[in-house]
Amino acid sequence: MNPALIDFKDLSDYRGGLVSLEENKNIPFTIRRVYYLFGTDTDVRRGFHAHKTLKQVAVCVKGACTFLLDDGHSRSTTRLSSPHKGLYISNILWREMFDFTDDCVLMVLASEYYDESDYIREYDDFIEQVHA
Ligand code: TYD
Repeated sequence: MNPALIDFKDLSDYRGGLVSLEENKNIPFTIRRVYYLFGTDTDVRRGFHAHKTLKQVAVCVKGACTFLLDDGHSRSTTRLSSPHKGLYISNILWREMFDFTDDCVLMVLASEYYDESDYIREYDDFIEQVHA
């Protein structure tokens, strides 16, 4: 599968970097939640789930980490290392994140409030949903 990367306009100037994110503009949904991961140990691998309806855009605002995305048919890995790029993660996509740099701050914009019942945490259940 091809990872869907969004290029954010670079508004940087001689004073420093600047990127602007706007719902239903360069972010393809209404933003209901923002969360961020930081201080993640390099040997930690997290994620290991899909979502029934949630759509997300992940931005590595500092440092780098790698995303594995799996649509049930094929997998891709993407190294996120730029605050100018967002990885669009649609629903029904299995994700794992790993190889975090020490300084990594991974910000995630989400289309819904946190809802544990939207998670698919077993890979077999995910494959079942893909074929449903
Ligand atoms: P989880 O999504 O399982 O983390 P990851 O997939 O990155 O390993 O979230 C870890 C814990 O934090 C879990 O108990 C749910 C809770 N959580 C919230 O309460 N709100 C949130 O917005 C998120 C993303 C997680």
